[in-house]
Amino acid sequence: MADIEAVRAFWESNPLWAGESAHEVGEAAYFDEHRHVVLADCFGGEFDLRTMPPPRPGGQRASILDLGCGVGFWSAEFAMRGLQGIVAADLTQRALEITRERLRVLDVQAQLRQENAEQLSFADASFDHVNCQGVVHHTPDTDRAVAEIARVLKPGGTACLSVYHRNVLLRLWPALRWAGWLLAKLGARLEGRGRDDIFLQRDVDHIVRLYDGAANPIGKCYSREQFVAMLRPHFEVEQTYLHYFPARALPFRLPRALHRWLDRHLGFMIYANVRKPCAA
Ligand SMILES: C[S@@+](CC[C@H](N)C(=O)[O-])C[C@H]1O[C@@H](n2cnc3c(N)ncnc32)[C@H](O)[C@@H]1O
Repeated sequence: MADIEAVRAFWESNPLWAGESAHEVGEAAYFDEHRHVVLADCFGGEFDLRTMPPPRPGGQRASILDLGCGVGFWSAEFAMRGLQGIVAADLTQRALEITRERLRVLDVQAQLRQENAEQLSFADASFDHVNCQGVVHHTPDTDRAVAEIARVLKPGGTACLSVYHRNVLLRLWPALRWAGWLLAKLGARLEGRGRDDIFLQRDVDHIVRLYDGAANPIGKCYSREQFVAMLRPHFEVEQTYLHYFPARALPFRLPRALHRWLDRHLGFMIYANVRKPCAA
């Protein structure tokens, strides 16, 4: 298994959406395009409000950690919906620079911190909510990162986490490789980051790692049972749900209703809304 420095080096030079975007990373058009692609492909057309931090009793302001903020999508979405008290944290300086720029372009606020999810510098019980989307499956010690999220949450605090989902298509991939070959022949591909032949790969774990780029050192995927089992020692798991069907990789346009159905039922990301138990 690669170490955290290899993970940092990869994401420093390959921030999310770089290599696939038609625009310069960090310019306004890049943020617009990224948001459009996230909403279309990662949510089947519509942002899922279940991923939002729940309202606090009496309208109190929540302290929110956006852990592994990447290029700032989540911090920006929260801030644009009026949430304050957001700390956007990432392993890499590059992610923080891009997030700072995104927040500036949108004229919204968050604090920025360089942090390793496996060893957070925050005190115990610092946050009301932790948002951690598509991050813990890229770090060497995923269990430790999950334990750190629990540690920095207040008792009764909430988190929303997501990881790659070992969905039925990935489970059946050895028998479906002919379909991948056919799609590739018809022009299915993911642009940039050395992923052109992703549909021709045989090994599912390799496909999952390759999804973020040929040089990506770590990418893991989980069944629903594995994900819940990883969260249960620390949290009450309130709900899980699926999203993400990367229709942009296909050589034809998916009808909207079908894309939405695939997103909800065959999503390649699994989300969990969890709560840290209140102290006895
Ligand atoms: C796939 S991107 C997801 C970004 C963002 N959460 C989103 O959904 O748009 C993964 C991000 O996690 C960060 N990351 C990976 N391992 C990390 C760790 N141990 N601590 C903090 N951030 C980490 C990477 O630097 C990268 O920005």
